[in-house]
Amino acid sequence: MVQLNDNYLKLKAGYLFPEIGRRVKAFCDANPQAAVIRCGIGDVTEPLPAAVRDAMHKAVDEMGCRDTFRGYGPEQGHEFLRHAIAQNDYRDRGMEIADDEIFVSDGSKCDCGNILDILGHKNRLGITDPVYPVYVDTNVMAGHTGDSDENGAYAGIHYLPCDASNGFVPAVPSEKLDVVYLCFPNNPTGATATREQLAAWVEYARANRTLILFDAAYEAYISDPAVPHSIYEIPGARECAIEFRSFSKNGGFTGTRCAFTVVPKNLLAATATGEMLPLHPLWNRRMSTKFNGVSYIVQRGAEALYSAEGKAQIRALIELYMGNAAILRAAAQDAGLPVFGGVNAPYIWVGTPDGLSSWDMFDRMLTQAHVVITPGSGFGSHGEGYFRISAFNSRANAEEVARRIRAL
Ligand code: MLT
Repeated sequence: MVQLNDNYLKLKAGYLFPEIGRRVKAFCDANPQAAVIRCGIGDVTEPLPAAVRDAMHKAVDEMGCRDTFRGYGPEQGHEFLRHAIAQNDYRDRGMEIADDEIFVSDGSKCDCGNILDILGHKNRLGITDPVYPVYVDTNVMAGHTGDSDENGAYAGIHYLPCDASNGFVPAVPSEKLDVVYLCFPNNPTGATATREQLAAWVEYARANRTLILFDAAYEAYISDPAVPHSIYEIPGARECAIEFRSFSKNGGFTGTRCAFTVVPKNLLAATATGEMLPLHPLWNRRMSTKFNGVSYIVQRGAEALYSAEGKAQIRALIELYMGNAAILRAAAQDAGLPVFGGVNAPYIWVGTPDGLSSWDMFDRMLTQAHVVITPGSGFGSHGEGYFRISAFNSRANAEEVARRIRAL
């Protein structure tokens, strides 16, 4: 008899964003006249930059000509894109990352989940709370946890609480952990980690042979020159960290799909018998077995983000979204709410008023202000009492949301 993966049955009701989508649809169906503005999921709203579109048009034409047509590409990504990434994002900024340490993919969400393929099943996991739910759910699916308790916390995960008292940046624990997920600038809190805080994590990881899975999907939103953009800015991080990056939030690729993972060749992990071996060949093997690469057209589009025009167009997009963030932050502050993030990140993390729960605040915002936010408790029990506003929107919508927050 065929058996299913019982681990899926441990998952809580539904993935956060589909659940929000379900509730919003029910409200909109019942109230078709409501002008609902979505500040929930962090999905970009502005069109693809012109440099990307031009490069993609050209690539489409190449695909239409026998001499320049391409079939299967390298599973790890085309050389031209791996080189552009390693050069611009790393070597030009003083970090030693080789082209073949870059693996191009169709998204950081996928990479964060897929990376578990090359890790063992007995690792002690450290995961921040609140957190991007993918890190938790993929470990549940892989059978790395027990059941969840009444607060939604899974047995087998060491939660690293993040709240206002630690600036939403977890201190290194006294326990030995084998795999730790860090995300900075943070989704959902919008917090950033200082160089010293990341250095403490790298020191901890090297001392304990811990692997840091560093999600830097929002690094382009950092404006403070003192804040690191990459874990590899910290000496020693090549020996203990994998980094995930994405073109979704800087180049507007949420619907186009392109991202990458950096796996340094000197990053080692233990076999069952304790021998230390590099992870790079395993990830290479995983990608070439289970993935056929991102489309050539999309990779040419991503490459164009590194041209002078592409860089300027990214800057303009980020200025727009961060201008929205400033408008939304100010509105939440004027409403007398505790406000965090939204300075080096496109997410504003806001305390709920009057002791409301996160989901009650979600309902109040939806039914009274016709604004979709994300309930903080959807990111973990320490997110209870908060909600997240996404700054990904048009300027007109951000201004309208600010007006509605002040009026609420
Ligand atoms: C979010 O809203 O947290 C993000 O859009 C989710 C994602 O990038 O997958």
